[in-house]
Amino acid sequence: MNYAKLEWRDGQPFSSEFDDVYFSADHGVQETEHVFIQHNQLHQRFAENGQAQFVIAETGFGCGLNFLITAKHWLEQSEIQQCLYYYSIENTPFTPEDLRQAHQSWPELQLISEALLEQYQVASAGFHCFDLFNGRLKLVLMAGDVEAMLPQLQAPVDAWFLDGFAPGRNPKMWSEQVFSQINRLSHKGSTFSTYTSAGTVKRGLVNAGFSVQKVSGTGNKRHMLKGEFTADHTSAGHFSQPWYELNQQSVNKKSACIIGAGIAGLSSAWALVKRGYQVQIFEAGDQAGAQASGNPVGMLMPRLSLQDSADAEFYSSAYFYALRCLQQLDHQQSCWQQTGGIQLPCSERIRKQIADYPQDKALAQVLNADEASQLAGVQINETVHHFPLAACVFPRQILQQMIKAMGGALHIRYNCCIESFSFENQQWQLKNQQNESIAATDCLILASAWQTRRFAQFSHLHLQPARGQISLFRANKQSKELNLPISFGGYLLPANNQQHVCGASFELDDCDTEIREAEHQSNFDDISHWFKDLFSKSDITAGRASVRAVTPDRVPVVGPAPDYTQYLEDYADLYKGRPAHKYPVGRYLPGLYVNTGHGARGFSSAFLSSELLAATICNQALPVSKRVRYALHPARFLIRSLKKRGKIKRAQ
Ligand SMILES: Cc1cc2nc3c(=O)[nH]c(=O)nc-3n(C[C@H](O)[C@H](O)[C@H](O)COP(=O)(O)OP(=O)(O)OC[C@H]3O[C@@H](n4cnc5c(N)ncnc54)[C@H](O)[C@@H]3O)c2cc1C
Ligand SMILES: C[S@@+](CC[C@H](N)C(=O)[O-])C[C@H]1O[C@@H](n2cnc3c(N)ncnc32)[C@H](O)[C@@H]1O
Repeated sequence: MNYAKLEWRDGQPFSSEFDDVYFSADHGVQETEHVFIQHNQLHQRFAENGQAQFVIAETGFGCGLNFLITAKHWLEQSEIQQCLYYYSIENTPFTPEDLRQAHQSWPELQLISEALLEQYQVASAGFHCFDLFNGRLKLVLMAGDVEAMLPQLQAPVDAWFLDGFAPGRNPKMWSEQVFSQINRLSHKGSTFSTYTSAGTVKRGLVNAGFSVQKVSGTGNKRHMLKGEFTADHTSAGHFSQPWYELNQQSVNKKSACIIGAGIAGLSSAWALVKRGYQVQIFEAGDQAGAQASGNPVGMLMPRLSLQDSADAEFYSSAYFYALRCLQQLDHQQSCWQQTGGIQLPCSERIRKQIADYPQDKALAQVLNADEASQLAGVQINETVHHFPLAACVFPRQILQQMIKAMGGALHIRYNCCIESFSFENQQWQLKNQQNESIAATDCLILASAWQTRRFAQFSHLHLQPARGQISLFRANKQSKELNLPISFGGYLLPANNQQHVCGASFELDDCDTEIREAEHQSNFDDISHWFKDLFSKSDITAGRASVRAVTPDRVPVVGPAPDYTQYLEDYADLYKGRPAHKYPVGRYLPGLYVNTGHGARGFSSAFLSSELLAATICNQALPVSKRVRYALHPARFLIRSLKKRGKIKRAQ
């Protein structure tokens, strides 16, 4: 991903690539008001909107002037429980510094600008979701080319801001592909407006189903276009992968039950509570973080990839989203610390990444051994990756902070193991060991990590347990100098309470949680390989073992629970390669969802997963791209097997 290359002319950003200004120096605000607000009738539509959400999509985020002005009107005119989803596509985003400088021009928009700048960071391609003003505004910046990004959007767009540079200079923003995607995403009553009055744009939008009007422009522009979607869709109901689609009914009751009080369960609860839900969690242990989410310290680091893949997009977006959530949860950084982090070249793959990954001030920078040693406070002998925004996390405190943030909207029942659940009288009945029903709900989320596979409804998920043991090393004078997490396959964290956490073993298909001497030894050997003589074996004072939930593709499983029997029936001949549109959309177990498979990175992956899950449950616009949603979809293993006519494996 490249940032915008700007020239500053009299304090105003100018694009030399497109030989055009981002906004008019004298009338920028007026022009946005005229072209985008007035001609989409947003004053009236915001004030009269009876829906929980309103969706705007913009081609060209630029410096975000349209966003700031729209946000201001939304905050003034909408109801407090309504949410504006503002999707904006941009292939060369501004750096935070450039955005700040551009926003200096509009002191009247400072409040919204500051809220955005506090979070703004777009350092990787794909969707980036920013929650602003307590959930009243969600900006989803889609970093990438318009033709690649629009097909990834899944949201019913109410108003389009078509704001590329002039069509003659920026034809890609006004192509047939773009108009056909605008058609796909529009519904009766969707509107658009744009500065341009070019004939090609007018024809493109007419063909895309809009009634188009040429009206008076403003400033230097004599004319502009506006219009309303009046057509029937040409591609209605044609999904490229119908088995991952969901015909969601609206949910009325704002209450849910969750099994598991780890990071997946609590972040799911938090995302729902922010949407006005009451949540009850059932936890087998005697506290939150009783299992994998209960280590004293952990790290939050990005997972880089040189491939452009859905997994890579997910992990980058999730990493930045997690950092924003932590910032929102704990501004003072008492339950996390943004120390930055270092990645040592512990495999050929990582060594190649360090050599080839594009450097980025926010995501990853290459440091030589001297620079790395100086930054880390301990001797490092290799060229490394430095992740400037990475953090140390204190998992139990994070869980406690979330519990506090949810107040009376959350109730947790500890020491309460759910043995089974079944759908009776249109509700999920949660049962204890004695097969007694202890709760009933319309909406049930499984956040029970690897143990999710014990429930018949999820036995097709291919979840595997992977035991991991951390070792605690007594800090010494030299080791106390370490001031950021270092990852080397395993990891070493800065001293906390005179102890360093070092981990972790990875034993697949092992769910035992006894401490093992052999795993202390392997943790010690691992550290000693990279930091000779920093510790001796006798410095190990304690350990903790718990179990990760691992999926075959190492991506979490998040979404609605497929109806196993119906999937086998509906997609039995998928291996024959019939066209996708011949198949029905997926059928699911009503109100049943899952959020698990967070493997070794739950503190990075859970927040965005939970936001996706909550948006799915509430039938709202989604914070991730279509390919990311598919990559996380709970039916993916089933579908992969059906495509290969493979044997469907289920856990016993
Ligand atoms: C040794 C080790 C080190 C790690 N280090 C890091 C790190 O530095 N950074 C990072 O991001 N990630 C790290 N991870 C991974 C991270 O801990 C996990 O990805 C994350 O904790 C998973 O969260 P979870 O909520 O899905 O699972 P869990 O935290 O395991 O929560 C699941 C909960 O469900 C409960 N439960 C299960 N079944 C039932 C039932 N039937 N009824 C009621 N309750 C039930 C369990 O008691 C448990 O509390 C590490 C993992 C391990 C093992
Ligand atoms: C006129 S500016 C947008 C101004 C913006 N709406 C605002 O309110 O500040 C046009 C934007 O379109 C972006 N753009 C141009 N071609 C693009 C493409 N092919 N894909 C995505 N964005 C593109 C440019 O980088 C630029 O930021």
